[in-house]
Amino acid sequence: MDIIAILFYTFLFLLITLLLYPFIMKHNKHRATSKPKVPPGSMGWPYIGETLQLYSQHPNTFFASKQKRYGEIFKTRILGCQCVMLASPEAARFVLVTHSHLFKPTYPKSKEKLIGSSALFFHQGDYHTRIRKLVQTSLSPESIKKLIPYIETQVISSLDSWVSTGQVINAFHELKKFSFNIGILSVFGNLEGNYREQLKENYNIVEKGYNSFPNRIPGTAYSKALLARQRIREIISEIICKKKEQRLIEKNLLGNFLNYKDENGQTLTDEEIADNVIGVLFAAQDTTASVLTWILKYLHDHQKLLEAIKTEQMSIYEANEGGKMPLSWGQTRNMPITHRVILESLRMASIISFTFREAVVDVVYKGYLIPKGWKVMPLFRNIHHNPDFYPAPHNFDPSRFEVTPKPNTFMPFGNGVHSCPGNELAKLNMLILIHHLVTKFRWEVAGYNQSEVQYSPFPVPMHGLPTRFWRDE
Ligand code: HEM
Repeated sequence: MDIIAILFYTFLFLLITLLLYPFIMKHNKHRATSKPKVPPGSMGWPYIGETLQLYSQHPNTFFASKQKRYGEIFKTRILGCQCVMLASPEAARFVLVTHSHLFKPTYPKSKEKLIGSSALFFHQGDYHTRIRKLVQTSLSPESIKKLIPYIETQVISSLDSWVSTGQVINAFHELKKFSFNIGILSVFGNLEGNYREQLKENYNIVEKGYNSFPNRIPGTAYSKALLARQRIREIISEIICKKKEQRLIEKNLLGNFLNYKDENGQTLTDEEIADNVIGVLFAAQDTTASVLTWILKYLHDHQKLLEAIKTEQMSIYEANEGGKMPLSWGQTRNMPITHRVILESLRMASIISFTFREAVVDVVYKGYLIPKGWKVMPLFRNIHHNPDFYPAPHNFDPSRFEVTPKPNTFMPFGNGVHSCPGNELAKLNMLILIHHLVTKFRWEVAGYNQSEVQYSPFPVPMHGLPTRFWRDE
């Protein structure tokens, strides 16, 4: 090619580039502007972010003001973590159900250490699926219906003990003891009294440490909790050893853990079993006790409803020859008014206001970027208190549950792969407790300010609802 041709082609190339330049720039600009942005919101102060605002007021106030300002998806910083909060049913479903593989469970390491890193709620994937199946089978309606007589015995003994003091009691504390005993029952079946007492004593120390600053200096609540956790682990190993010696592998959660073998014949280690037993006890206790405390309060505040529940329960009581016969599974499935009161209490109290997940990759949701490593929080409480789904959401009105809620708008037990496997047991406990309470007892709430709530860590009425119980003669 001669020099003229080279010059000609160079000129042509430059001319084409020059003519195309505005189009290329426009295209690039379009690409740059359409790159998803993180959601709107405020990250607050460096490191602490908006932690103080969140924990210094009622969670409703914090979330509602954010939602009003920024809409259903907004960013913030809590406890040093960058978070995206999601207040719509579709977004909660996206994170917990349809795209759950993009979000992993996330807990502070200090808390994971106390419960045990093999507990199912810290895991995702194969291990989680295997353990969850065992837990779900042990807590399925088929399994828990056999527990009814034992739960009744527990309920009656708790109610008798509250009456026998003749004093005002801290209802939440007493309900925690009750819920712990039911947790033990669902894991171990009938456990020897001394083991139960040892587990309870050490579990109380673990719990104090769980809610304290994670400081390993000897003598602190956290370091005492770590030691108590180790003792629980030893007690569980002793129980396992004894059951194996006596060839007494029952059909409860512990039995299912002990019987488990994977496709290669691999069994679960004692460590894995202990972590999951502690995990289930932990998941069962405060949750059930908090909701039961709210039920006592709501029924106390709504005497007409209490009368309606009483009528429903008295007809079952009379059919059972004045309580001489045990409650049947069928009867617990046919308590519509009581059941609706439980659902409305779960909605109103929304004791688990939100949950945490962490994005494992960059995720785009509705045009917003949720960067890898950011925490994601579906806000159950906001959804349960949204007037679009629950008109007059601050009124306690069980009749709203005469109609099934819209999909993904009622999630007191979460949703998707990590949703609560203990939900049927929790509701069964509540139904049985209400049955015995309203048919034979009465109660009054003492000197309690209606609007005050304490966080333990779940919201419960102030001072654990000081209550006096007596027998209805
Ligand atoms: C009213 C009482 C209860 C409430 C409100 C409740 C609520 C919840 C919620 C919202 C979750 C999901 C958390 C998340 O997605 O991050 C959950 C998980 C769980 N709950 Fe419950 N729960 C209750 C009682 C129980 C009971 C009685 C048990 C066992 C006996 C139990 C065992 C569990 C377990 C093991 C998980 C973890 C499941 C997994 O990660 O796959 N819960 N619970």
